[in-house]
Amino acid sequence: MSIEIIGTGGYVPEKIITNDDLSQMVETSDEWITQRVGVKERHVSVDETTADLAVKAARQALEAAGIQPEQLGLIITATVTGDTLCPSTAALVQAALGASCPAFDISSACSGFLFALDTAAAFIARGGIDYALVIGAERLSRVLNWQDRSTCVIFGDGAGAAVVRPGNSYLCSKLFTSGNDSVLSIWAGKGNSPFYTREEPPYQVVMNGQETFKFAVRRIVDDLKQICEQAGITPDQLDYIVPHQANSRIIDLAARKLGVPMEKFVLNIDRFGNTSSASVPISFNELVRSGRLRKGDLIALCAFGGGLSSAACIIRW
Ligand code: UT7
Repeated sequence: MSIEIIGTGGYVPEKIITNDDLSQMVETSDEWITQRVGVKERHVSVDETTADLAVKAARQALEAAGIQPEQLGLIITATVTGDTLCPSTAALVQAALGASCPAFDISSACSGFLFALDTAAAFIARGGIDYALVIGAERLSRVLNWQDRSTCVIFGDGAGAAVVRPGNSYLCSKLFTSGNDSVLSIWAGKGNSPFYTREEPPYQVVMNGQETFKFAVRRIVDDLKQICEQAGITPDQLDYIVPHQANSRIIDLAARKLGVPMEKFVLNIDRFGNTSSASVPISFNELVRSGRLRKGDLIALCAFGGGLSSAACIIRW
């Protein structure tokens, strides 16, 4: 038993920060950010929590699916920027929606939504769940060093969600982890213990951009080749690829290495920046709502990021 996606949603906070806005804050320019990353603007939260963003995306997905919160058998939220370590963001979403099912979070950074989707598929395969809600939600603006031009220009806030049920459209998937905290990390800070003596990095995104870039291109190419092989197709037979929106140059390079035209890749990094675990579900939601999908289309979703981690899957629409 596999799954099918029956409703999607996406939400970004209202406030937009443009590249010109950022160039008032750090030494950067619209030209540099556009050319090196592909971002023109990103949305940041002013008064909405990560759970608020998640709930808004979730409500949209539930509405699209025609499902009431009480019909849900499971809620999984992927996030690395939850408002509380306890309760989980998923538990806060459950309360806000008025659902009563088990709810928990998954932490796998930008690959988190696909780890969560695969977990939901496994739960559904076990039986006993009619509908599961899978969310990727991030408020990265709270963990950025806004003086560090190599990271603060990249990221944005947002949430995406999908409602899934038993079905046959999740053809195959791949999850990958290569444990490493020296390339991309968000340390949680030293905390309050009067007994703990180790110094730890401050609570903020620390990234070796070039190493992450190389990892990203390698993972997209390898993961997509592997899942296509599993599905018995070649990458050029995919109708759409929904990649994690980290850097348009990463996607361009991966597309060339795979021999897949850029037109098949769903891109919105210019409008939202990198929203970590929210990036794939926000992009997938845009693809679904664009009306471009035809029954039977083959869509690959792929992501990579902190962990280091990566994930990919193929869905038949
Ligand atoms: O979602 C998690 C996954 N994350 C990613 O996939 C990120 C992957 N990495 C990247 O996207 C890129 O490596 C960055 C966008 C982070 C950086 O781009 P880059 O082309 O790799 O730049 P670089 O780090 O090699 O730096 C080149 C130059 C440096 O100046 P010097 O030393 O050559 O004088 C940087 O200081 O660009 C400078 N620089 C900037 N200049 C203007 C770095 N950030 C900026 C900036 N504005 N915002």
